[in-house]
Amino acid sequence: MSPSTPPLSTREKAELVAGSGFWSTVASESGGIRSIVVADGPHGLRLQRAGGDHLGLGTAVPATCFPPATGLASSWNVGLVERVGVALGEEARAEGVGVLLGPGVNIKRSPLCGRNFEYFSEDPLVSGELGAAWVRGLQSTGVGASLKHFAANNQETNRMTASTEVDERTLRELYFPAFESIVKREKPLTVMCSYNRINGVWAAENRWLLTGVLREEWGFDGLVMSDWGAIDRMVPALAAGTDLEMPGPQRDSADAIVAAIADGSLDEAVLDAAVSRLRSLSDRVGPPVAVPEPYDAEAHHDLARAAAVESMVLLRNEGGILPLSPTERIAVIGQLARTPRFQGAGSSQVNASRVDSALEHLRAGAAEVTFEPGYSLDPVGNSGQSLLRAAVAVASAADVAVLFVGLGEGAESEGYDRTTLELPADQVALIAAITAVQPRTVVVLTNGGVVSLEPWHDSAAAILETWLLGQGGGAAVASVLLGPEFPTGRLAESIPFRLQDNPSYLNFPGDGDEVRYAEGVFVGYRYYESAEVPVRYPFGFGLGYTTFGYSDLVVSRDGRDVAVTVTNTGERRGAEVVQVYVSAPAVPVRGPVRELRAFDKVWLEPGESRRVNLRLTDRAFSHWDSPSSDWIIERGDYEIQVGPSSHDLLLRETVTLAGQRAQKPLSLDSPVSDFLEHPVTGPLFRKAAAGRNKDGPTEGGTSVLDMVSSMPMRRLLRFPGVPVVAWQVRALSTVANLRPVRAIARLFSR
Ligand code: BGC
Repeated sequence: MSPSTPPLSTREKAELVAGSGFWSTVASESGGIRSIVVADGPHGLRLQRAGGDHLGLGTAVPATCFPPATGLASSWNVGLVERVGVALGEEARAEGVGVLLGPGVNIKRSPLCGRNFEYFSEDPLVSGELGAAWVRGLQSTGVGASLKHFAANNQETNRMTASTEVDERTLRELYFPAFESIVKREKPLTVMCSYNRINGVWAAENRWLLTGVLREEWGFDGLVMSDWGAIDRMVPALAAGTDLEMPGPQRDSADAIVAAIADGSLDEAVLDAAVSRLRSLSDRVGPPVAVPEPYDAEAHHDLARAAAVESMVLLRNEGGILPLSPTERIAVIGQLARTPRFQGAGSSQVNASRVDSALEHLRAGAAEVTFEPGYSLDPVGNSGQSLLRAAVAVASAADVAVLFVGLGEGAESEGYDRTTLELPADQVALIAAITAVQPRTVVVLTNGGVVSLEPWHDSAAAILETWLLGQGGGAAVASVLLGPEFPTGRLAESIPFRLQDNPSYLNFPGDGDEVRYAEGVFVGYRYYESAEVPVRYPFGFGLGYTTFGYSDLVVSRDGRDVAVTVTNTGERRGAEVVQVYVSAPAVPVRGPVRELRAFDKVWLEPGESRRVNLRLTDRAFSHWDSPSSDWIIERGDYEIQVGPSSHDLLLRETVTLAGQRAQKPLSLDSPVSDFLEHPVTGPLFRKAAAGRNKDGPTEGGTSVLDMVSSMPMRRLLRFPGVPVVAWQVRALSTVANLRPVRAIARLFSR
């Protein structure tokens, strides 16, 4: 805007924030703001040239379909995800798109969420690290990201009406950290707020969320846009921190903003701030290209294929049946081998530029391949006996059966959740029939969210979880089954034995328009490991075609630097994902027995060893302290645990941290426990009690002091026979509260 141009009128500004079309922002020549084209994401460009819908229904320009987040997350490969981000940016730029709507970093609270295929993990560190890599790659090309869906949007049922009832500690420790670290480190140009309410307040109207936490605490200086159709009332949304309503144009919103400014209920400065964020978005997005720069579609397909290779997780490989020998007679069974399902349904659905099928690539790579569909993918799911019989015949005549099973197109989608973890019944029957005649059966799974591996798990010689692999998945599966590629993926979500074992089971998808996150921070492995509930496969787990050993764990005194040696102890090349968990002392709030705090993926030749160095941040040792509304490190022992999954910790080291909590001042209202824990009064009280023979353990093993520890001192003193009186305790407290006295007492207690 040049100094001579007249300022925009209130009406003009209101129209800017009330949106333009389905996929663009409003331009204002006099305001120095250009129109920005936005498009879905996240695993490919979904650009609709004509018309518009947010459900993946209309056609979009052809683009590379990379593995959705569920697959990318299983790679645990930050560099790979960054390369995918760069490729997405190149495609967006070639089509004149300024903002790509992703990544989705919502936590997988329940395996049933219909959109889990679009999200990374049940763990915030994995979601945050991989989401950050995606944003870094994308934004390096000048295309802006839209980090979504902020916040606590972890289901599709009633997503536009439900209120997530959740305590602040759970938000801070579990549902916020991926957003927080990406905002702080990568500065995404935009954030998309979610449809739902949080503790009764719409995300779009939630000032605490969008202004307090996002802008004031985390320093976000980009633009907040609404999810498509998330706004009921733009005036309170604007006041809360939503800068742009999508899709537009919403004339009634513009009218309401003008009226609210006129009657004084909305400060015009709020509108000005939103307009200036629109202006800065248009400045920050890379300049429009006069002639579109074509991207290398072949290279992007190769990258999609490489990403698909790393997205697969080998769960079982009895007797080393995999990799297969190309000279074996292979029976490929399952319609999904011929008609791949490679992405989920809804707004993220990409018009893939081409699609590989596993069948065609297995045929190309092996000497003798027979095929039977085994079942039909039509939604009725009744495949008939003839398909099954034909499949059994080819399986029994072959050396090995590779059986592709999984969920069909309609089984999981944006807009609704699943109600079961089971595979279609006809496919479960097929697995039973095939494994009965062919003990050398490899089950290849296709699914966006976790499926049950019961009751057939033990009958399969090998199980390869491929999630949804994007357009290069067919070639990738074939090259992992036959070599030369090998599986390197690890589970970014636990696979439970039963749906009922999942901690959100009784509160998903909630009652009516309310969903209580009653399990708190105990989501996924944080619950399974803490409650010792066995799972079929733990978070972090995955096999390769080789084995690894861990040795020489060294942890610095402050716990921040961790080094460990990893050795490839097998005979093939492989990759290991080294995982570092921290087990914090259980005071003063109960937390998970361990939480992932760092990871790294390393490639090793047979016999090769590598020293892996990992850095832990302060946050790795902190918890959210509700009374002080802040992060705090408690005093105590922290165990650093290293291993290949959340359940298999091979090396451990303990560090003792002094903590950050100031000694609570003692008073007559303090519980007896505070006096017992205090460096000055603790020894005195224990000595006095022992002297009176009252501190000896009772029959049950507890002591009198333990039994009264939660009692406020003031009340204890009222009991007959207590040998001290109020003024004595008050005087003692005054002395004990003096910092030098505490320091000297600590010296003597060492
Ligand atoms: C989805 C968003 C998407 C938007 C635009 C909404 O329904 O929740 O993730 O970006 O539509 O298609």
